[in-house]
Amino acid sequence: MIRLDLIVGARPNFMKIAPIIRAISAYNNHRKPETIAFRLVHTGQHYDRDMSGSFFEELGIPEPDVNLNVGSGTQAEQTSGIMLGYEKLLMQQKTDLCIVVGDVTSTMACAITARKMLVPVAHVEGGIRSGDMTMPEEINRIVTDSITDYFFTTSDTANENLRKNGVGDDRIFFVGNTMIDTLLYSRPRFRQPDIWNELHLAEKGYIVLTLHRPNNVDDPSNLQRLLDEIINSSSGLPVVFPVHPRTRKVLGSTADSLERRSLHLTEPLGYLEFNYLVERAKAVITDSGGITEETTVMSVPCMTLRDSTERPETVTIGTNELLGTNPDAIAPAMQKLLSGQWKKGSVPPLWDGHTAERITDIICKLFL
Ligand code: UD1
Repeated sequence: MIRLDLIVGARPNFMKIAPIIRAISAYNNHRKPETIAFRLVHTGQHYDRDMSGSFFEELGIPEPDVNLNVGSGTQAEQTSGIMLGYEKLLMQQKTDLCIVVGDVTSTMACAITARKMLVPVAHVEGGIRSGDMTMPEEINRIVTDSITDYFFTTSDTANENLRKNGVGDDRIFFVGNTMIDTLLYSRPRFRQPDIWNELHLAEKGYIVLTLHRPNNVDDPSNLQRLLDEIINSSSGLPVVFPVHPRTRKVLGSTADSLERRSLHLTEPLGYLEFNYLVERAKAVITDSGGITEETTVMSVPCMTLRDSTERPETVTIGTNELLGTNPDAIAPAMQKLLSGQWKKGSVPPLWDGHTAERITDIICKLFL
């Protein structure tokens, strides 16, 4: 038998871990006695119901076995809190392999702790790089990958990045994208949110907006300029904007005046409702990384308000375009969209809904 720790902490982790849990259960079902045991560890980096709990319910993730309850804080506070909590847990009971996903603070903190406790680390979504060292996620990726034993990758670019860093091919496993496993598995269950009828939305008749990167949202006047430009260039199409807690704090009382225009603010939506909106949108404007993968698979035009991306295949193969963070780039891109000139795109290799099964098989070959 092999014992795994599965680590989650923040919203984008939940969709990446759910299919792995399902694949492990399926693997065990075919083999008695149970071959893979796991402990689900939630660091508590995200803790609101709409940032965490609702995802567990909608994606069928079991209750975490352990919650480290780290909560909000600076990067260092969160990192150190998670490390202290996870170290204590590993001292109580070791594990054979620690599986971390994505690039959030929880990913890096648990990877470091595990390796120092002589527990091997597997990184799902290893190897991706934006080259932008102002993003905390880029530091998390580099640090995590520098101590990872086994890399489960989403793209050939990720494989190349790892090789360039001296990682041998025997530790790189190109398996595809677990976030897309969740998307394809959940697609038949996407759910119309209340806002659909409240705003009289129609297919391809609105835009979805998400913004939460410190670069875009932490300076209130910069955020305001971005929002003004989006409203002014979208030809009166309703813009649905589920607002991340970080962005909500910065918007403060200006939120009311935006509501009077074509921008419609909502609380963060659940996974099934959010993707119902994305699937039917005319386009998505975002500074998220994961959403650019989902729009690529659902063939929805996507404009990314960032200067770089760690997911270049969403641009070279998919429907994504990098507009940068200068608001002046929004109007020409919107013009291209509204005149029907947006590229069609296709789906990157192995983003086929079966990545978690491949990961499970590989782990068993390595450890059993
Ligand atoms: C984190 C991830 C980012 C990911 C994003 C998705 C890092 C470095 N960043 O950024 O990669 O795209 O999650 O959401 O790990 N807050 C709440 N309720 C919550 C969680 C957070 O109100 O449940 C507040 C916090 O108090 C804080 C802000 O939201 O002020 C930011 O939360 P934090 O976890 O620090 O980072 P994110 O910006 O969410």
